[in-house]
Amino acid sequence: PTDPPLVSTGHLPPPERVKALVDEAYGRYRSIDEGAVADYIPALAKVPRDLFGVCLVGVDGSVHEVGDAGYPFSIQSVSKPFVFALVCQAIGAEEARRKLGVNATGLPFNSVIALELNQDRTMNPMVNAGAIAATSLAPGEIADEKWRFIQDGLSRFAGRRLEVDEQIYQSEAATNLRNRGIAKLLEGYGRMYFDALEATDIYTRQCALKVTAKDLAVMGATLADGGVNPVTEERVVDASICKRVLAVLATAGLYELSGDWLYEIGLPGKSGVSGGIVTVIPGKGGLGTFAPALDEAGNSIKGQRVSKYLSERMGLNLF
Ligand code: DON
Repeated sequence: PTDPPLVSTGHLPPPERVKALVDEAYGRYRSIDEGAVADYIPALAKVPRDLFGVCLVGVDGSVHEVGDAGYPFSIQSVSKPFVFALVCQAIGAEEARRKLGVNATGLPFNSVIALELNQDRTMNPMVNAGAIAATSLAPGEIADEKWRFIQDGLSRFAGRRLEVDEQIYQSEAATNLRNRGIAKLLEGYGRMYFDALEATDIYTRQCALKVTAKDLAVMGATLADGGVNPVTEERVVDASICKRVLAVLATAGLYELSGDWLYEIGLPGKSGVSGGIVTVIPGKGGLGTFAPALDEAGNSIKGQRVSKYLSERMGLNLF
């Protein structure tokens, strides 16, 4: 930005200013045409690359959206922090740390070597290995109960019923051999807490839940608001759980580029290969962006630029 950034305050700028900045950020990055749409899940490759939506939801329940913020896409990895939050709530944050780990792997999201290099603290719930293990910890004796827990919980974060995109689910389920391998390897290390292949299947379904940029903003605002959804006013998780989730997000939300993200944006965030990013502005709100073209680490290019711009212009950096 050419203008000097605002200084950090305890609140978002006034509503007219938020609206003007969200619109400005959208206009500024709209015509960027860099990066590639993910195609390792075949059905993802069909999503139009020029879709672009931005939404900011305040902890006061205010909503500012622009562009394709209502366009549904599969949540993919952006589901991970919310499932982790629900699992922490169910089994306790300490037990979750002991079973899943909370340190950065510094390696790509689907790394297998990370499991071999660091057996004691193998992972964190933001990379595929830790996320599948987190899903395996969802309460329930059978897969269907675990799935209901996850679908209901993520829906409470979004404040509306989230449904599976069956085409994306089938497409990923038919090609997710690497994730099945990761889950089996973890099972071998005693770090999988349900049948490895069933847990991978639930995780694959979880990744195929359809959301919009607006949903991501509401979900992020719920973590920003100490676990209360600011739109429905329902408490989804305890405030003490949110703190833990945000710490892990700041550490590992953008995989091997998490340090760069924190250096530039100064806020916890989570990306997904379908092009969504959620950014949590603690005590203030949630930002959801959607733009399918990705950089080499699998993070939305326009989403990162918009998040950086808004963080700077609104003075949101935590540091
Ligand atoms: O497990 C996978 O590979 C996908 N369902 C999710 C990966 C993902 O979103 C990584 N994020 N950038």
